[in-house]
Amino acid sequence: MPKKIVAGNWKMNLTFTEADDLLNEIAELLENETIEAQIVVCPPHPYLEMAGDVAKESSFAIGAQNLSPFESGAYTGDVSSAMLKSMEVTYCIIGHSERRKYYNEDDKMLTAKVNQAIEHQIIPIFCVGEALPEREAGKHFETVRHQVRHGLFHLDTNEFSEVVIAYEPVWAIGTGVTASPEQAREMHAYIRQLIDERYGKEVADTTSILYGGSCNAKNAAEIFSQQGVDGGLIGGASLIPKEFLAICKAVK
Ligand code: PGA
Repeated sequence: MPKKIVAGNWKMNLTFTEADDLLNEIAELLENETIEAQIVVCPPHPYLEMAGDVAKESSFAIGAQNLSPFESGAYTGDVSSAMLKSMEVTYCIIGHSERRKYYNEDDKMLTAKVNQAIEHQIIPIFCVGEALPEREAGKHFETVRHQVRHGLFHLDTNEFSEVVIAYEPVWAIGTGVTASPEQAREMHAYIRQLIDERYGKEVADTTSILYGGSCNAKNAAEIFSQQGVDGGLIGGASLIPKEFLAICKAVK
């Protein structure tokens, strides 16, 4: 069975005090709850240390939203995998559509980031997903196949076994429009088939594949109950503590 995971992607939101409040509210809400999923909170880099401190007393893990494709050295502004690892960061989002779009992160860059993460025992949450024109042209499988193959399939079986994949159709991110349960189920099954062809059934059957894109407390249970959907990557709703908790609880 794949591990169930719900990860909150805060993106570039909140001041230090607001982040402190949100972390503590999440910890408080989780105190008396038994949640089936591993909860991951992914705040902006400056708040990772604070998040780590709160997480020590709670049940959630910490993820970063980005890491450098380089090991160390003269890369002004970058944050390396070794740095993240030394701050108890367990996961890192890689290949998010916003980074592909606004920072031109291409296959080569993403491969380098995945390699850095794996080398430093940080679990990549590798995002894939088609844009609306690709979906409308019936090219969504082709797009996702390319992203999965070029971003991840250079890894050997042991390395790949560490990876989490998030299917996030770009047209569903921050739009209030989610993929239908059928669309999610179909794409998750397709990604699992690709993994099976490359790494075999055992690996395919244990890889966590999350859904992301306008997940909220109302629609999470239906999406998460689809065959092959192992949890979610949550943007906007992860900034609202009760909403985020309800989404986490929707994983069965
Ligand atoms: P959203 O974002 O939940 O706000 O649509 C999801 C994501 O970008 O990971």
